[in-house]
Formats: sequence, structure tokens, C-alpha cells
Amino acid sequence: MADVKFDFTNKTVIVTGGAQGIGFTIARQFLEAGAKVSIWDYSEKALETAKSELSSFSARLQTLQVDVTDRASVASAAQTTFPNTDILINNAGITRDKSFAKMSDQEWDSVINTNLTGLFNVTKSLLEKFNSGSNHKRIVNISSVVGLFGNFGQTNYAAAKAGVIGMTRTWSKELGRKGFTVNAVAPGFIKTAMTNAMPPEVLQQMSSKVSVQRMGETSDIAQAVMFLSSESAAYINGTVISVDGGLTI
Ligand SMILES: NC(=O)c1ccc[n+]([C@@H]2O[C@H](COP(=O)([O-])OP(=O)(O)OC[C@H]3O[C@@H](n4cnc5c(N)ncnc54)[C@H](O)[C@@H]3O)[C@@H](O)[C@H]2O)c1
Repeated sequence: MADVKFDFTNKTVIVTGGAQGIGFTIARQFLEAGAKVSIWDYSEKALETAKSELSSFSARLQTLQVDVTDRASVASAAQTTFPNTDILINNAGITRDKSFAKMSDQEWDSVINTNLTGLFNVTKSLLEKFNSGSNHKRIVNISSVVGLFGNFGQTNYAAAKAGVIGMTRTWSKELGRKGFTVNAVAPGFIKTAMTNAMPPEVLQQMSSKVSVQRMGETSDIAQAVMFLSSESAAYINGTVISVDGGLTI
């Protein structure tokens, strides 16, 4: 069976946290499918690397140094980004894991500020920048299976990712009539810098719990994001797609 091919020619996409990991693969796949892509990320070093790795797409690529927790930084990026956004992928996220008893206020605040308030800041700043003539406006929020089921040591992360699902469903109700669909993807364990930070024995143990017996690739998430962003998904709104190899069944 042939792979699904997407065509996003003439579409403008913003990917937060797009300089590495899952966001980078999402940005690259949109570029390969013909879109104009603006990557918003706070890591100058990761942005430089991403820019050089994506140099063959430079005519359709913009990289902006943005901290999604900082409203002034987000407002300035919204001013300078491509006009007429079609698709927003809210992907930037961090972890600061500790058991609840040991979690500091700072660890709670930083994860909530990035993984929950960051989506509020970015989406609010861009709402009026979406292509008003289009009925193909898309927001895809990256949640996590942890937001659906909780996880040991992730009070902050689980709360933020569950909040992302609540926000997704609310926006799907409020914005549907304005030509948007708003959905979330809930990844399981995906190979990125975020999971590389975990001890190898924990990763091994986690992989063995996945029905398909492997960690996910960033492309597994990107494909679900592309589908939700496409015309084919025009009637899918307010849903959460778990992409976890069967981890949670
Ligand atoms: N890797 C996994 O297993 C996994 C599982 C479930 C959900 N997720 C989610 O997927 C998303 C991407 O994760 P990843 O594994 O690719 O992580 P990653 O650490 O590889 O990449 C995250 C990117 O976000 C950027 N970022 C972080 N804070 C930011 C801020 N305040 N402003 C702007 N950019 C910021 C980082 O610089 C980085 O480029 C996150 O939302 C994460 O919670 C990941």
C-alpha cells in the first residue's frame, strides 16, 4: 500500500518548538509537502541547526526565536511572521519530573507556563492572523498519553497535558463556526531528546510495555498531525488521537 501523500502548497504553517524533536519532523514534513513554515523556538542553537538542515527549503522557511512563556516575545513573533496563517501546531513543551512530594513550586510553574499557558499565549496572539477567507483553518495541539492517564513523577506535566485537551475541546466548540478545526495528538513514548534524558533501563522497561514493542518515531506523530491538518480531516473536530503503539490499552 502506498504511503499517504499530503499537499500543503500555498498553506502557511506555524510550528512551536519546531527546532528539534517531534516539532522539527513536523516542520520538515510540511515543507516537503509544499507549505510555507515558520518555526518558533526559544533555543537559538537548535534554530541554527534546524535552519541549516532545512536549507534546501529556505525560500519557504522562517525561523523565529520565541519563548512561548513570554507574552511580549510571542506578540513580536506574531507581528513578524508570515501573514495569513492557515495551520498552527502547538508543540513546544518541557518536562521537569519529580514525585509529587518532592516537586518544587518552580518545577510546577515552569511546566505549566510552557506546556499549558504557552499554548494560550501563542494561539491568542495568532487568532486574528489566521487567513480570514479560509474555511481550512487548523489548530493541532500536542498533548500526551500522560494527560489522559497520569504518570508517576509527572504531576506538573500530566496536569498541563490534560489542560491542553480541555483547551482543545473548548476551542473546537468556539472556533468551529469560524472555519477552524481544533484537535490534539497524544503521543506515547517517542525517541527524542526529551526521552533520551530518561535512564536506559526505564526506556527499555517502557518499550516492553508498548503493544508494538518499540518506541515511536517522530514521523509517527508528524503523520497524524499532517492528517489532522489536511482537507481529509475537515469533519474531525475536538478529538484527541493517541499515537502510542498501544501503550495505553
Ligand atoms: N518525546 C515524547 O515521548 C513525547 C511524548 C508525549 C508528548 N510529547 C510532547 O511532544 C512535544 C515535543 O516534544 P519533544 O519530545 O520533541 O521534545 P524536545 O525537547 O525534543 O523538543 C521540544 C522543543 O520545544 C522547544 N521549547 C521548549 N520550551 C520552549 C519555550 N518556552 N518556547 C519556545 N520553544 C520551547 C525546545 O527548544 C525544543 O526545540 C512536547 O509538547 C512534548 O510534551 C513528547
